[in-house]
Amino acid sequence: MDRFGMGSKCFLLFLLVLPFVCVASDLVVVKVDRKIDVTSHIVRVVTSLKVENTGSSAASNVLITFPTGQVGNLAYVRAAAIEGRGKNKVSLQLPVNPAQSEGLPDGVALFSIALSKTLNNGDTVTIELLSVFTHSLMPLPEEISQAQSQLVVYRDSAYFFSPYLVKVQTTTIKTPSSRIESYTKIDPTKVVDAELKYGPYENLPAFSFLPFIVHFENNQPFPVVKELVREIEISHWGNVQITEHCHLVHGGARLKGGFSRIEYQARPNIRGASSFRTLLAKLPPGAHSVYYRDEIGNISTSHLRSDARKTELEIEPRYPMFGGWQATFTIGYGLPLKDFLFQASDGKRYLNLTFASPFNDVIIDKLIVKVALPEGSKDPYVTIPFSVDQHQEIKYSYLDTIGRTVVVLSKTNVVPEHNMFFQVYYNFSSFSMLAEPLMLVIGFFVFFLACISYSHFDFSISKSSVSYLAKLQREEVQDAVRHLQNIMNQRLAVSEKLETSLSDLARTGDVQACKASRKAADASLKDTAKELKSVLEFLQSSSQASHILPRVDELVHKEKEKQDKLLLKHSIVVDSVDKKLPRKEIDSRIATHEQKLTLLKQEVDELLQAMDEI
Ligand SMILES: *[C@@H]1O[C@H](CO)[C@@H](O)[C@H](O)[C@H]1NC(C)=O
Ligand SMILES: *[C@@H]1O[C@H](CO)[C@@H](O)[C@H](O)[C@H]1NC(C)=O
Repeated sequence: MDRFGMGSKCFLLFLLVLPFVCVASDLVVVKVDRKIDVTSHIVRVVTSLKVENTGSSAASNVLITFPTGQVGNLAYVRAAAIEGRGKNKVSLQLPVNPAQSEGLPDGVALFSIALSKTLNNGDTVTIELLSVFTHSLMPLPEEISQAQSQLVVYRDSAYFFSPYLVKVQTTTIKTPSSRIESYTKIDPTKVVDAELKYGPYENLPAFSFLPFIVHFENNQPFPVVKELVREIEISHWGNVQITEHCHLVHGGARLKGGFSRIEYQARPNIRGASSFRTLLAKLPPGAHSVYYRDEIGNISTSHLRSDARKTELEIEPRYPMFGGWQATFTIGYGLPLKDFLFQASDGKRYLNLTFASPFNDVIIDKLIVKVALPEGSKDPYVTIPFSVDQHQEIKYSYLDTIGRTVVVLSKTNVVPEHNMFFQVYYNFSSFSMLAEPLMLVIGFFVFFLACISYSHFDFSISKSSVSYLAKLQREEVQDAVRHLQNIMNQRLAVSEKLETSLSDLARTGDVQACKASRKAADASLKDTAKELKSVLEFLQSSSQASHILPRVDELVHKEKEKQDKLLLKHSIVVDSVDKKLPRKEIDSRIATHEQKLTLLKQEVDELLQAMDEI
């Protein structure tokens, strides 16, 4: 339901107020002509229906329905009453609104067309209905090679899906070329060139539905914009700046196998039949300073044509677009304020601009339009002929003090038919316009004051900044020393483990366990040695560390010596135990090392404590 053009929030509102209508009625569809146009990737169905009131009570609404399978893809509906024929034909727009009714089959969407005059017994009215569907042509096969043509499948009902009895009806499907691979035959069915015709069928009851499938060639561009963000910024100094961020994808059959640019360039129409190279953007008249860029930079292979009524920009992504390929880019341009911003009779200002994409025949899955009002604008509101999600944001740019109000409109499933004018009204006092120049004046004044004081306090400023830098460096040195202490503590813990492993060995005689402990110790000593080295390098390079460097060096040296001694002792003991030497013999072998080790331990402890004072 979201796809009908009402965001989820609006839809909730609709649920509450959706008018309950009675489907059973005395209306009869006397004649239906349905023309389904599948020549592009957007499916447009124009249905002309003549409705008669055969009952005694007057009718003021005509109901239309869409079957479950189509509801999700329905992007747009429009209805008009047709009077007269040929040259005298007059069409009068009629409001179409979603409606609700009991007793409808599940998932069926119901709309109510409000007639401009009530239909009495025996009266008829002719209504022309336009319904537009997106993502309704399914590529088959889903993947094709560079040189293959794209084939797609379209499904629909051969019978007009209506809540009323339909007396006579025909349906024609217009395909882009006469290559129709296959189609469902429902007598009478006929193909003439690029047109498939179902019917006439007579006297079908309400909700008759008979599916058909048609499989045909369609090499038209399938440009789908996953997301388009349009930023519109109003400056009362004479400009409306528009920036459009676009994420484009080719929505057709995916390209399989490689892409050969050489083949493509030699014969693009054959070796790239399903691809498209360019997109045409119809910009508003008077657009100036037009640019087009992607992540890499400006793209100059775009062509700009303009006359008094329009500006056309033909953009060309860096590579041709094949099925599944994507491109993201930005186009930007300025518009003269006087052509798009007006003053209403009640003094409000309003922007009047088209809502949707400037690109020809694209589907936009998600459109976000952001209108940034001048600073100081108040009470904005939007008028737009279909429903959209709305909220407001605040945006700051240079010189803004209180920020600009940004009106954000978003809508899913957008088609070119949505490219209608919308208005953003807001209150604005001209005094606010002075805010920016005033800011400039104040800004310059402050700047001059700053210059004056700078020249007075020049020396002190630069001095204090030097001392600030020194303070930072001192803190860095302190951090490094803490890190060094931390590493030393880790290495101390390793030493303790080694000593423990030796006493365990004396107790249990388990040489293997002792060797395993040694291995673990070696590994962690190696790791910590690496860390130690980087800390040392930092301290050696820092000017603020020079006075502590001798103490640090001594600590590192002594600790290394101690660690080496301990490892030596460890090796001797393990070796001796392996050789099953007596206890006494072992003790005498390590006696001198033991003495030295005790001495070194003391020295290291003292040096490490001294570090605390740094
Ligand atoms: C791209 O083009 C715009 C408008 O012509 C220009 O302002 C901008 O500097 C260009 N950027 C680069 C990177 O060339
Ligand atoms: C907005 O501009 C269009 C085209 O110029 C015009 O037809 C339409 O009446 C304008 N709408 C309003 C509310 O001014």
